[in-house]
Amino acid sequence: MHSTDKELVLSSTEIHDRIQELGKAIADDYQGKELVVIGVLKGAFVFMADLVRAISIPLSTDFIQVSSYGSGSSSSGEITLVTSPAQAIKEQHILLVEDIVDTGLTMRWLKQHFEKEGAASVRICSLIDKSERREHSITIDYPGFPISEGFLIGYGLDYDEKYRNLPAIYHLNLG
Ligand code: IMP
Repeated sequence: MHSTDKELVLSSTEIHDRIQELGKAIADDYQGKELVVIGVLKGAFVFMADLVRAISIPLSTDFIQVSSYGSGSSSSGEITLVTSPAQAIKEQHILLVEDIVDTGLTMRWLKQHFEKEGAASVRICSLIDKSERREHSITIDYPGFPISEGFLIGYGLDYDEKYRNLPAIYHLNLG
């Protein structure tokens, strides 16, 4: 990849500052409740690590992994559970942490999954909200940044499993 193939969209400082705001809002809303923060692998692992450190109330953490067929630059069709959280979900207050919500398919499936498991509540925090491509209606309770279009990499976001380690978020020119 040449340096001209990617353009900065969100600097690490912008990301850091927004995460502090999200963390504060989450801590205020869940005051006095037992919060279980569940990161959606793999993309959310970087965001999750920074977000939980910005939430000042006690919480527990876990992860879930799903796969959607027809990979490439977006998800499509069917979702399959790859790895379940290790801890019990029933009657817990769940906060799902995702890197990016695009069509909404993955998050809609995950929210329904946790509701079926008997969670007391299920809310969603996503660093990026690509609402223009939304096909499945879903409320993002804690959205980080609205981004209108394009394919993003860095800060956990990948293209073919690469670029997750970039400390900022870039638009990747796939043309
Ligand atoms: P959705 O199910 O269409 O909302 O897609 C969510 C998943 O698609 C994300 O968790 C990412 O894995 C992937 N995805 C969608 N857009 C992007 C992007 O711009 N960069 C990297 N991954 C993306």
